[in-house]
Amino acid sequence: MGRAKKVVLAYSGGVDTSVCIPYLKHEWGVEEVITLAADLGQGDELEAVQKKALTSGASESLVADLKESFIKDYAFSAIVANALYEKRYPLGTALARPLIAKELVEAAAKYGADAIAHGCTGKGNDQVRFDVAVAALNPNLKILAPAREWGMSREETIAYGEKFGIPAPVKKSSPYSIDKNLLGRSIEAGILEDPAVEPPEEIYTMTKAIADTPDEPEYIDIGFTQGIPTTINGEGKNPVELIEQLNQIVGNHGIGRIDMIENRLVGIKSREIYESPAMLVLIQAHRDLESLTLTADVTHYKRGIEETYSQLVYNGLWYSPLKAALDAFIQKTQEKVSGNVRVKLFKGNATIVGRTSDNSLYTPDLATYGAQDQFDHQAAEGFIYVWGLPTRIWAQQDRS
Ligand code: ARG
Repeated sequence: MGRAKKVVLAYSGGVDTSVCIPYLKHEWGVEEVITLAADLGQGDELEAVQKKALTSGASESLVADLKESFIKDYAFSAIVANALYEKRYPLGTALARPLIAKELVEAAAKYGADAIAHGCTGKGNDQVRFDVAVAALNPNLKILAPAREWGMSREETIAYGEKFGIPAPVKKSSPYSIDKNLLGRSIEAGILEDPAVEPPEEIYTMTKAIADTPDEPEYIDIGFTQGIPTTINGEGKNPVELIEQLNQIVGNHGIGRIDMIENRLVGIKSREIYESPAMLVLIQAHRDLESLTLTADVTHYKRGIEETYSQLVYNGLWYSPLKAALDAFIQKTQEKVSGNVRVKLFKGNATIVGRTSDNSLYTPDLATYGAQDQFDHQAAEGFIYVWGLPTRIWAQQDRS
C-alpha cells in the first residue's frame, strides 16, 4: 500500500520537484503523479517545464496560467491592506502559495487524486502555506512532502534523479535560492547567509544599481479606483500589465530592493533579499491616498490591523476566518479611496509628491494659514478646556 494512489504535484521544473516524481512512485508507492506548473509570470519556459515533467515520469503535465488571478485576487488584496510583513516585505512569495494550493486542490478534484504534493523542505514558510491552504480548501486530501523527509543532500538528490533520467542541471547552478513571480524576487542562501555581508550586485535583475539609474527624476501618476490601482499616467491598464509596467519603470530607478533579517514562522531568523519594485511603490501610494480620503479614526484603526493582516498572509492563513473578516472590513474602507497619486522616482527613492481625489477630506479653508481661514479659533478654547480637563484634575490631585 502506497501513501496515496494518485497525486497532484506542484511542479517548477527544477531538480527537486522533478526528483519528487520518481520518488513518490518508487519510494512511496504512489501509482500516478500528475504535475501542475503555475504560470505566475516568473518568465520560465513553461513548455520545456511541461515536457520535463513527462520525461521525469508524470502521467499528466498541467500548466496553469494564473497571472491574472494572482494580481486581481491576491496582490490587489494585499495592496488595499498595505500588507508589509515586519513593515518591509511585500509578501510576493507568500501571496503566490494560496493560489497555487487552490489550483492543486481543483486539479485533484478534476482528476480524482487523493493527495497533493510539493517539493518544499521542512525549514521554510512555504510548506506551511501549502499545507494549511490545502487543508482549508479540502481537509480530506492527503499532503505529501517528499523533500521534507528524504534527507538527501543536493548531490544525492541529483544522483537519485539521474537514475530515472532526470538530467543534472547543465549550468553550474546558482548558489542562491530564488523564488520569482510578477510581484518580485525572493533571494536567499549562498553568501547572503552571512548577514554582515553586502549582497553582491549580481543577484539583482529587476532593479538597477544606483550608479546606472537615470540622472533625471521621472514622475508617474498612479490612479486608484476604490483602492485598486487602475491607471498609470492616466492610461487604463489591466492588472497584469499594470504590475509589469510598474516593475519596469520603478526598477529602472533602482527602487524596490529590500535586505532584511526576517522571522520565519518555523522559528528561524533568515537573511532575505527581495526585489519588489511595483508592490512597494503601489503600497506607498495607496497608503498616501488613504490618508487623503479616510477619516482619522478609520485610518488609525486600519493601520492597526494591517500588521495582523500581513502576519496572517505570511503565516499561511490566507484561507481563514480572521483573514476573511479583515478582508470584509478593509473592503468597506476602500469605497472612497479613489484618486491619483504622483510619485517622483529618482536614484533609489520613490517620493510621493502630490495626490488628488474627488473624495478628498482635505479642506483648504480649514487647513490654511492664509486670509480665507474658516476655522473657528474661539471654539478651540472650549474644546481644549474639556479635552484637558482630566489632565488638569489629575495634576491638581497629584500635587503632593
Ligand atoms: N522568506 C520569504 C517568504 O517566506 C521567501 C521565501 C522564498 N523561497 C525561496 N525558495 N527562495 O515568503
